[in-house]
Amino acid sequence: MANQKKIIVGNWKMNLNLHEASLYLHKLSGMVKAHRDVEVVLAPTILTLQSLSLQVNWRQFKLAAQNFYWRDHGSFTGEVSASQLRGIVQYALVGHSERRHIFNENDKDIRNKVAAAIRNNIRPILCIGETAWERASGETNDVLHDQLIGGLSNITSEELDQVVIAYEPVWSVGMNQIAKPDDVVAAAKTIRRQLEHLYGPAAADAVQVIYGGSVTSDAAAAYLALPGIDGLLIGGASLDAHEFNEIVKKAHNSSLLIKEG
Ligand code: 13P
Repeated sequence: MANQKKIIVGNWKMNLNLHEASLYLHKLSGMVKAHRDVEVVLAPTILTLQSLSLQVNWRQFKLAAQNFYWRDHGSFTGEVSASQLRGIVQYALVGHSERRHIFNENDKDIRNKVAAAIRNNIRPILCIGETAWERASGETNDVLHDQLIGGLSNITSEELDQVVIAYEPVWSVGMNQIAKPDDVVAAAKTIRRQLEHLYGPAAADAVQVIYGGSVTSDAAAAYLALPGIDGLLIGGASLDAHEFNEIVKKAHNSSLLIKEG
């Protein structure tokens, strides 16, 4: 892991209306301390992004889109493009398991979105992970391999350091069922091995790999201490400002431990 900056992303999913999001940001802003070693990213709904972008202290938080369409403009009713999000968000989730499994996003959509994000100066957070069935069938490595190749096939080694990879096993997302640390380390290794194969060791080493799936403040420190894990993608627990702030604090403490060690 070349990049020691931890990244903590709060994915609010389809929660908080304009008023609630604004109140939440106000509350969170009063709690979270800006640390140079932790990047705190908030992913509200598309509806609230612009107004939050006017309220947010950029030194404290970055913003992420949960989704977007890969074409820059045109006749695509109901969609918002990465080029329209440019300047409002610094990150965007791509290929979240809820997009893959509820909205049937496929590898082509996902690779086009990864490329569109990069083209528009937005860092894609490419989410990959196996279902319970794939895990039980021993297919985890194959799924990670296929989703990585599928998502990154338009990306050059120069662009790779813009990409964050989130390992989010589908069976763990929103289930209060957290992956075992050994499984997370093994998945992170598989991901880096595959990146190395595609882009070479230096480029692979520079990529931030984060974990997501039922993480709370109680479990955060243990996951942040795992080798090869550079941060966390938080769903449910990010909706509680106190919980989320505790997770950010753990990320800061874990960076201090790395520096001291
Ligand atoms: P939970 O933390 O609620 O399991 O959600 C994880 C997730 O999907 C973050 O993107």
